[in-house]
Amino acid sequence: MNKISFPDYKCDVLIIGSGVAGLSLALRLADNYKIIVLTKSKLNESSTLYAQGGIAAVFDKKDSINYHIKDTLISGNGLCDKEVVSFIIKNAESCIHWLINNGVSFDTNSTKIKNKSYHLAKEGGHSHRRIFHNADCTGREIENTLIKKVLQHNNISIFEYSIAIDLITFKKFNSLIPRRAVGAWVWNCNKKQIESYHAKAIVLATGGASRVYQYTTNPEIASGDGIAIAWRAGCRVANLEFNQFHPTCLLYTHEEGPNFLLTEALRGEGAWLVRPDRSRFMLSIDKRAELATRDIVSRAIDYEIKNNNIDCVYLDITHKSEQFIRTHFPIIYNKLLNFGFDLTKDIIPVVPAAHYTCGGVIVDKLGRTDINGLYAIGEISYTGLHGANRLASNSLLECLVYAWSASKSLMKTLPSINYFGSLPVYDNKINNKKYHLNVNELELNSYISKIRKSMWNHVGIVRNIKSLKHAKNEINLLKKEIDKYYNNNYFSEKLLKIRNMSQVAKLIIHSAIKRKESRGLHYVQEYPDLLSRAIPTILIPNNYKK
Ligand code: FAD
Ligand code: SIN
Repeated sequence: MNKISFPDYKCDVLIIGSGVAGLSLALRLADNYKIIVLTKSKLNESSTLYAQGGIAAVFDKKDSINYHIKDTLISGNGLCDKEVVSFIIKNAESCIHWLINNGVSFDTNSTKIKNKSYHLAKEGGHSHRRIFHNADCTGREIENTLIKKVLQHNNISIFEYSIAIDLITFKKFNSLIPRRAVGAWVWNCNKKQIESYHAKAIVLATGGASRVYQYTTNPEIASGDGIAIAWRAGCRVANLEFNQFHPTCLLYTHEEGPNFLLTEALRGEGAWLVRPDRSRFMLSIDKRAELATRDIVSRAIDYEIKNNNIDCVYLDITHKSEQFIRTHFPIIYNKLLNFGFDLTKDIIPVVPAAHYTCGGVIVDKLGRTDINGLYAIGEISYTGLHGANRLASNSLLECLVYAWSASKSLMKTLPSINYFGSLPVYDNKINNKKYHLNVNELELNSYISKIRKSMWNHVGIVRNIKSLKHAKNEINLLKKEIDKYYNNNYFSEKLLKIRNMSQVAKLIIHSAIKRKESRGLHYVQEYPDLLSRAIPTILIPNNYKK
C-alpha cells in the first residue's frame, strides 16, 4: 500500500495521449501556450506507432477531392456526415504538407510536389491511388518524427506512465453557464500516487477501444479510456456498434496480442485472398474483389472460415517479383520470416481482428465535446467521417485535420479563459483510494479475458439478437463486480483499465442492440436489411448537461 498525495500541475492545455492526434496538436499550439502531454505508457506507444498503410490524400492528377469524398461515403454506407467528410478531405493536402514540413518522410516516385515525386499506394474502397506512406511502417515514421519535434520544444512537458483517471469538472452553484472541464486526476505509475492537473482546456486524444476484443491489431493502450472518461463526465457518444475488423491479420499467434497486421496495401498492390486450395473467393462477392471495403471483405472471410470449417484463409502475393515485395513491404517481409513464412514464396494464413473504433465521443468540427473546455480528437472521437465503416487510411487523416481545427479553436478561446483559483473539493472516493499492489491480480486478469472473449464471441463480425443479449448480461455482471471493487477503494493500474473496458464494452453492446438493421460493420442475422433512414446511434449519459 502506498501513500496517496496530490501534487498539482498547471498548464494552458492538457493533452491526454501521445499518438498522432495529441502530438500534432501539441506542436500546433506550443509556440504560444504551455502544453502538458500525458501518456499512459512509453511516449511512442500508441496505435499510431503501428500504422502501416498510410494517409489518404488527393494528389494524383487523375484523382479528385470528389472521388475521395465519394469513396468515403460509399464505405460509410449512408451514415457519414457529408459536410464533415468534405471538410476533412479538403484539408488533407495541407496536413500532408504540414507533416512533410515537420520532417516526415514519405516514399517517393510518381506524383510531383515541390519537385519531389511521391509514391501513392492503393487500399480497399479507394477508386484511385492516394495513400501517402513510408514503406509499410508509416505510423512509426510519423510518431517518431513528431516525438523528436515535441521533445525539442520548451513549451511542451511530457509525463509518461501517467494514466488519466477522470476529469475534474466545475459548475458554479445555480449558474446557467454549462459545466467546464478544469483538470484531470491522474495516476502516476512510477510514484504510485494520484496527481491533479489544472488546465484552461483539456484534450482527450486517447485513441480507440479495440482492446475490448479478444483478437485485435491494437496495442494494450487501446482500452477505450478516453471514451469511458468522457462518458462518466457527461459527454454523449455515438455509433459505437461500428467496430471495424481488419480482414488480414496473421493467424492469431497469441491471445494477448496485438495480432500482427498485414497491410491492405498488399492487396492494393495485387495480393489475392485464397482458400487452402488457392482458389480466390472475393471475385464472386464484389466487383472490387479483394479491394472491396473492409466490412465486406471481413464478412466474406468469416463466412469462408465458418462454412468450410477452416482456421483461416490465405494472402497470396507470390505472383509479384521478390524485389518488388521486399522493397514495398520490408517490415512485413522480415517479421513474417520470424514466424517461418517467406512472403515472396508462401501463402500467408490470415484472419480478421478488431482494428478500429468508428464511433466515439461526439464532437463538432472544432473537436469540441458536450462539456465546455473539453475537446476530443483522433480515434476517440465521433466526427461523422467514418459512418458505418471507415475507409482505409482515413484515420490518420482525421487525427491530423482535427488537431489543426482544434488548435484554431483553442487559439481563439484561450486568451479569454482564466485558471480556476483552486480546484473544486477532491472527490473523496478518489482521495481515499488505496493502491493495492498485486491485489486479486489473477481475478482482474480473468475479468479482462472474460470481457474480451465475450465481445469477440457475441459482438463480433456477425451478430444475432440472442448473443447480443448474452453479452449484455455477461458484461453487466462483470461491470457490477468491477465497480464494486473500485467503489470500495481498491485501486490498481489494471483495475483502472478494466473499469474503462467494461464501461466501453457496455456502451458498444447497448449501441449494437439499438440498431435494428444491418449496415456496414454491424451485421445482425435477424435484421439482414438496411432501414430506409440512416440514423446515428446516440447514447446520452445521465449527467449530460447537468
Ligand atoms: P493513438 O495513436 O492510439 O494514441 C493514443 C494515446 O493515448 C497513447 O499515447 C496512449 O498511451 C494514450 N492514452 C490512452 N489512454 C490514456 C489514459 N487513460 N491516460 C493517459 N494516456 C492515455 N490508420 C490509418 O489511417 N492508416 C493506417 O495505415 C493505419 N494502420 C493501422 C495499423 C494498425 C496496426 C493499427 C492498430 C491502426 C492503424 N490505423 C491506421 C489506425 C490509426 O493508426 C489510429 O486510428 C490512429 O493512429 C489513432 O491515433 P490517436 O492519436 O487518436 O490515438
Ligand atoms: C492497413 O495498412 O491495412 C491499415 C490501414 C488503416 O487501418 O487505415
